This record gives sequence, C-alpha cells and structure tokens, in this order.
Amino acid sequence: MRIKKAVIPAAGLGVRFLPATKAVPKEMIPIVDKPTIQYIIEEAISSGIEDILIITSRHKKAIEDHFDRFVSLEDHLRGKGKHDLLRIVEETGGMAEIHYVRQGIPRGLGHAIYCGRRFVGSEPFAVLLGDDIVRSQVPCLKQMIDLYEEVQTTVIGVKEVPQAEVSKYGILDAELVKQNIYRVHDLVEKPAPDVAPSRLAIMGRYIIEPEVFNILSCTEPGAGDEIQLTDALKELARQKDMYGLIFEGQRYDVGDKLGYLKATVEFALERPDLEQPFRSYLEGLLGKKTRR
Ligand code: G1P
Repeated sequence: MRIKKAVIPAAGLGVRFLPATKAVPKEMIPIVDKPTIQYIIEEAISSGIEDILIITSRHKKAIEDHFDRFVSLEDHLRGKGKHDLLRIVEETGGMAEIHYVRQGIPRGLGHAIYCGRRFVGSEPFAVLLGDDIVRSQVPCLKQMIDLYEEVQTTVIGVKEVPQAEVSKYGILDAELVKQNIYRVHDLVEKPAPDVAPSRLAIMGRYIIEPEVFNILSCTEPGAGDEIQLTDALKELARQKDMYGLIFEGQRYDVGDKLGYLKATVEFALERPDLEQPFRSYLEGLLGKKTRR
C-alpha cells in the first residue's frame, strides 16, 4: 500500500529550550529563517506524503497560523511589489493538507501517536519527530518509503551512535540482512549503555503498520513513566516483520542546544545569499580565537 499519511507529534512542552519555549512552540524556533517544523513538513511532502496530521496541545496556535493563509500580509507584500516574500508566505499557507488533533494530557510519544488513530485508519503511515532534521540527497522519509515498498512492513530509520549515547534513544536488537538494512527482533527505549543490545538508535523516522494502534490502546507507561512508542513497536515486532534502515544523510538533533547550533551554522553555509559573508565572518571569528 502507498504511504500517503504522516503524523508529526508537536505537543511537547519543549523544556530543553526554556525560556525560548515559554511562549513560542519549540517547533516554531527557526533555523536560519524557517521554523524547524517546516523542514519536517517539506521532507514529508517531497517524499510523496499527501495528508499530514500534527498532534498539538495548548499554546501551539502559532503552528496552525504558520501553515494557514495570511491574506492581509499577502495583500501588503503584493502592494509593495515584494514578490519573493509573497511567494514564501503563499507557499507556507498551502503546503499540504494539514490536519490537527490535540493531545490534552502529556502522556508520552506513544499516546501522542495514538491520538492520530482516526486520521490514520487502517493504512500504514509515516511518523516524523520534530527534533530530528535530516539533510540528505534523497529525503530521509523517501528512502524509507522505498524500502517499505519492497518489504511491505514497518520500517524504522536508524543511525549508529556511540555507546555512551545509547541511553538517549530507542535502540534496536537487530540483524544485518543487506547493506544498511536490518531485521528487527526487539527494541528497548533508552537502555543503560551496559545492557543496550546494539548501537542502532531510532532517529525520529518511522513507517508503521496500523496494527500499532491496537497495541497502543493497552501499552502501559514505560521509560520516564510515559507511554512509549518504542514499547508498542516492541510488541508489533513480535507480531509482524520489522526492518531498520540506516538512512543516508546527516541528522541534527535540533531539540538539543548544540545540535541546534550545528544545524543553524551548516544550513546557513548552504544558503546562496549567506554562504560567502557568513563563511568569512566565521573564519574571521575563529582566526581571532586561535590568535588569543
Ligand atoms: C524519542 C523516542 C526515541 C528516539 C528519539 C529520537 O525520544 O522515544 O526512541 O530514539 O525520540 O530523537 P525523545 O528524544 O523524545 O526522548
């Protein structure tokens, strides 16, 4: 079955980015000049997704406004002849069919995804987590959809991480079947480094079979006392085949301050309008630092 629907959880409080996230949703914090969630939506659309569900919560209205039309701003820009800006504003107002559901109680990622069960129905669907931005030749989700089309079952996007970092992620117990493709036997959310079954970490991209909703309806709270998607996938892996794909591309954890800064610098260096002046600024800055 073709993957047409994606769920993007965006209900979290964003405490790692306080005080910025006290009044602004963390998904709206920009990298260069684009909110992080727009990078995620663009990846979904360029991977062929047609309908997107964003799971929101109280204080996330800015996300809905961002992807809505803003007619008076469009008229203003048109009147001033600012056509480049007009195009940017019009584009964000018509990116895809975006739907919203609120997760009233913060009960964890698994529960957030469960809030999307009516939107998804009985189709396999994609999940993209907003803290993970991937820069790649072929969009990360497209790489996963290509594998899904071959295997017709759940596919999880992974990268190898250093042993010391496994406790920040969901980790796979899996066996290599082809270059970069693993068959998943088991999963564990945020294991201690000495008990982790591998260094294959879930990187916020999933294509999931709809049976996960039955499982989620009775998944008990796990790590951090939250209903974990990883725990539901663990049960799903018992019922059906599941694969892990080491995708091509650089992944940035923009929910982490250092990861956010790295993404900002690297994305700015790729922008034709900023590349030259920003590069010379950085070189000057680093030159000054090494001269100290
Ligand atoms: C979530 C998932 C985890 C995954 C991670 C990727 O954790 O629960 O399995 O590895 O995203 O970013 P979080 O970072 O929300 O705690």
